[in-house]
Amino acid sequence: MKEAPKLNLKRSLELFEDALNLVPGGVLGARRPADFIMGEYPIFLEYGKGCKLTDVDGNEYIDFLCGYGPIILGYREDEVDDAVIRQIKDKGFCFTLTQRYQNDLARKLNEVIPSAEMSIFLKTGSDGTTAAIRIARAYTNRVKIMRCGYHGWHDWCIEMKGGIPEKLYEDVHGFRYNDLDEIEDLMKKHGDQTAAIIMTPFGHPLHQKMETPKPGFLEGVRKLADKYGAVLVFDEVRTCFRLRMGGAQELYGVTPDLTVLGKGMANGYAISVVAGKKDVMMASASKLFISSTFFPNSDGYVAALKTIEVLEREHVIDAIWKKGDYLLKGIRKVIDRHQNAGAELSGVAPMFFVTFTKGDPNTTRGRRTDFFTQMIRKGFFFTPHHHGYICYRHTEPDLGKTIQAMDESMAYVSEKYK
Ligand SMILES: Cc1ncc(COP(=O)(O)O)c(C=O)c1O
Repeated sequence: MKEAPKLNLKRSLELFEDALNLVPGGVLGARRPADFIMGEYPIFLEYGKGCKLTDVDGNEYIDFLCGYGPIILGYREDEVDDAVIRQIKDKGFCFTLTQRYQNDLARKLNEVIPSAEMSIFLKTGSDGTTAAIRIARAYTNRVKIMRCGYHGWHDWCIEMKGGIPEKLYEDVHGFRYNDLDEIEDLMKKHGDQTAAIIMTPFGHPLHQKMETPKPGFLEGVRKLADKYGAVLVFDEVRTCFRLRMGGAQELYGVTPDLTVLGKGMANGYAISVVAGKKDVMMASASKLFISSTFFPNSDGYVAALKTIEVLEREHVIDAIWKKGDYLLKGIRKVIDRHQNAGAELSGVAPMFFVTFTKGDPNTTRGRRTDFFTQMIRKGFFFTPHHHGYICYRHTEPDLGKTIQAMDESMAYVSEKYK
């Protein structure tokens, strides 16, 4: 049983010690060491290029987290960065009024996203889902929300309820992905008070296996929304521009009333969108105030326009599917070869997850920790708690090395738990 040597993480740990006195918890939320494997993962990164990251101790990794999703081309993608730098230097990006790029981007989204007749531009995915909920409530004059998936950190939807008055989420009901009966029952009970059904059209529940829609599931939810007069919102923060240019709604052929986009659309620059059908979106013009100092900043718009231009010109999404297919084929073989490790692969080529819930439940955690520990020590940045992404700059040799490292790591787990 060959174990990979532990990484030198001295500088990361020193910086973390320092951070503990400066920032509550040292680093925020999903960047905390507890979300990875304590003592095995770096905590601070120094730089990235393409699909590779280097931490503050000089360890290099092939990365599959892609900044938790926004990096669709690669880190430090010159064409996008140059466009933004030019904008900043030649024209400026933060003004009292809006620059014209919002029209260009709204027009582009209208062209590529099936539901995007009109758009509102914000900064984060949480801004987007929260704005979508407010628009749906204003449009329908109802309060209840049915939700399925992670939709960000705001009061109405975060799982950790500390600091949130109950009344802010008591009208929000969760349902499981691919469980049409459950959402049907909820709508039978609350349909006439339901403003919105918000869901990820592709199933990526927190920490769990990913799911593609069962035949009829998305169509069934669409019908329920129509039957009860609720607004159907697809949260495509992860899937937009990754599964298809038009998101999961294009791939699966079901069109929502509102769509939330974020992450991959600007290769790392902060911008998110609520887009949707004109009649629903117009509620935001007449009944709501949605505004923030930084929403009109044009760095994000310019980055998004350039990113979309590259995605289209280079057929990036086709390339990502091809790369992902190659990797997933390799991973499937690895899993078959080391069945004793109890690993499973879920998801689709651009977004996939290796989980360990099969086999003896007493060793699930140990097998998972050992596998991802071996992988990070070998220089492959996945995490046990979140699926991986493929970006355009992953090359076949990078993916070949990843398969090889998975084979060795899975052999290690298989032997340790035999
Ligand atoms: C599906 C989905 N919706 C919404 C969000 C919230 O986005 P943000 O973290 O940019 O606020 C996320 C973030 O991971 C997400 O994955």
